[in-house]
Amino acid sequence: MTKAVVAAVKPCLVELVAGRTYFWCACGRSSKQPYCDGSHKGTGIEPLAFKAEENGDALLCACKRTRGGPWCDGSHNALSDSYGEPMDAATDAETVTFVETPEGARAQLDSDCFVLRPGSGKQFGRLRMQQTIGPGDGAKHISQFAGQLEAGTSPVLRFAGSDAALFIVSGTGKIEIGARSFDLAAHSGAYVRASEAFRLIADSGQPFVFNISVCPLGPMPEILDDMPAGFDTSVPIRIVPLDPAKRSAMADRFYQVLVDGEHHGTQVTQFIGHIPLSRAAHHHHLYEETLLVLSGDGIMWTDRTKAALKAGDVIFLPRKQSHSVECTSPEGMLLVGVFYPSMSPAINY
Ligand code: FES
Repeated sequence: MTKAVVAAVKPCLVELVAGRTYFWCACGRSSKQPYCDGSHKGTGIEPLAFKAEENGDALLCACKRTRGGPWCDGSHNALSDSYGEPMDAATDAETVTFVETPEGARAQLDSDCFVLRPGSGKQFGRLRMQQTIGPGDGAKHISQFAGQLEAGTSPVLRFAGSDAALFIVSGTGKIEIGARSFDLAAHSGAYVRASEAFRLIADSGQPFVFNISVCPLGPMPEILDDMPAGFDTSVPIRIVPLDPAKRSAMADRFYQVLVDGEHHGTQVTQFIGHIPLSRAAHHHHLYEETLLVLSGDGIMWTDRTKAALKAGDVIFLPRKQSHSVECTSPEGMLLVGVFYPSMSPAINY
């Protein structure tokens, strides 16, 4: 049997009709990518027939290296040493300046895409919190909150009916979820189920600086007088620390998934990723995404606009937004990303 050839190094965006059967080209020789045109004859490779379960957009593999045909699983990123060449078309993008708003300094890019430098937020005892992304920003699935807890214990918080993915930017301590307690270190992800409440304890004498992503999206959390005992034992692992052994390479970048549907049964994926000194090609995702810059400087590009990036900035990207994050720091840029629906961070087009 001959080997499948690479038809393209990015997947094909198609619109599927529920109940219709499609024949995905597995050999890579079809001129009607991603579908079969009969060119596989004599190769020993057969097309893959599949029936669409629902109407809507899908990314079908065109590199023919996916492990889960017909769908793109991000394997195309391993075919190149870099995350694509910059697009000339975007070099004339207008620089957007930051404007002061009640939420902080904000740069509005194309469509609903924006970069926010959060303000100081509201005080709840030792806790200070601010909503950085919500429905008023064009988000349809994810709300996000920036917080800081001075040494001590936060109030009990609950995002009723929504899953919460926390990321600890700095500090160490604990999170209590119902009657359970877990240690938390900087750059760990933590997951709280929709039915649960939680509180944070900064016990090292240093403040906890953190970020909370909530799905489905909603307002600031309820503050409860007492901790409800409920803890969903069907998801026992709630803390995922940074672990170089769990990194996945993606061309010249890497990422580690912290929270996702596969391990936590949630609809969002939270990951930490590293971008080297580089500017990637513009690309899109089928998901709604938020990014938090942990370290490094750079530029956020959309097709017609661009804005400066620095540590602490929050980025919102609507579904299908054309974009590129450029890193201008020699040491690279570290980011935390959260997106809906849950899938691999490597899937792009
Ligand atoms: S195009 Fe083949 S895995 Fe993405």
